[in-house]
Amino acid sequence: MSPSMIAPVVEEENKKYQKGVKHLCDNGVTKVPTKYIWPEPDRPIFTKSDKLIKPKGNLKLPLIDLAELLGPNRPHVLQTIAEACETYGFFQVVNHGMEGDVSRNMIEVCKRFFELPYEERSKYMSSDMSAPVRYGTSFNQIKDNVFCWRDFLKLYAHPLPDYLPYWPSSPSDFRSLAATYAKDTKEMFEIMVKAIIESLEIDGGDEAVEELEEGSQLMVVNCYPPCPEPELTLGMPPHSDYGFLTLLLQDDVEGLQILYRDEWVTVDPIPGSFVVNVGDHLEIFSNGRYKSVLHRVLVNSTKPRISVASLHSFPLTSVVKPSSKLVNELNPPQYMDTDFATFLQYLSSREPKWKNFLESRKIHCIR
Ligand code: OGA
Ligand code: NI
Repeated sequence: MSPSMIAPVVEEENKKYQKGVKHLCDNGVTKVPTKYIWPEPDRPIFTKSDKLIKPKGNLKLPLIDLAELLGPNRPHVLQTIAEACETYGFFQVVNHGMEGDVSRNMIEVCKRFFELPYEERSKYMSSDMSAPVRYGTSFNQIKDNVFCWRDFLKLYAHPLPDYLPYWPSSPSDFRSLAATYAKDTKEMFEIMVKAIIESLEIDGGDEAVEELEEGSQLMVVNCYPPCPEPELTLGMPPHSDYGFLTLLLQDDVEGLQILYRDEWVTVDPIPGSFVVNVGDHLEIFSNGRYKSVLHRVLVNSTKPRISVASLHSFPLTSVVKPSSKLVNELNPPQYMDTDFATFLQYLSSREPKWKNFLESRKIHCIR
């Protein structure tokens, strides 16, 4: 069958699973339905020519101490940030100044949101990619051939007064706790952006900093219920994040893996820390110096996991391109100018797998 004939079949079949993973679990699922079974090479651990590919030990990401960044040791910390963004595309932030209660309350109220009856959660279901609030499941629940073991709630968060009225009104303290968390995360992002621009040694980078401060913020709450057969499925497929920087808060359950030297390695969760990663827009802006690295999520059979990814970038109306301060005759731009509309169109039109979007924006020059 041609792809144009397969798509309607998949879309019809996907309708059966629209209620999501939490709903399956609440109904006592004991085996992973076929729809969620990934092809063998994509599974968490797989056999290749009779050889079991064993997971490596956990990865300790470079640690950035924000208090140190704001003190006399700043140049040294900037150097560590630059190396982390070049090598891993990821680092972990400690001493970030966000009150422990703010992040704990956020995780806890999100847990309570996902425990609401399905009818309440589903009020926020929408196929409109730019809806201010969107509840859903898998990655792209209309198009995905194989589903992921994940339900999500996406909230646009900046400018907050524009979006807050659309956020869930239940649990009753959701809006106030999530709004405090969104504001505090935005402040942390602003500190990080100044550091990132400085670490790229961009003279007069203030313009980019100001644009990013006015930029977009999308909070993605991920819920990964325990899975009866975690070795067959994924919580999230390999992907890169499309924004400038992502600030990820996880509970104490591990699951995040990043692709490091061609192998999947699990990130050790540090309680109270944030995982920060380079998004596609920063890779483009830095003209390829900082890497937007593939990552995925594994699930497990015993512990539910909640994470909150806060994706920050330029305003939705901006065009993202390599910084003019970083390109010259010797270093020509490696990416095409890219706007959000192109990205959203891409996202809704096909299964976003691997680094397709960023790849599609690369300028391949023949030298
Ligand atoms: C994401 C993401 C990782 C996680 O939301 O983009 O990569 O650990 N989340 O949930
Ligand atoms: Ni991600």
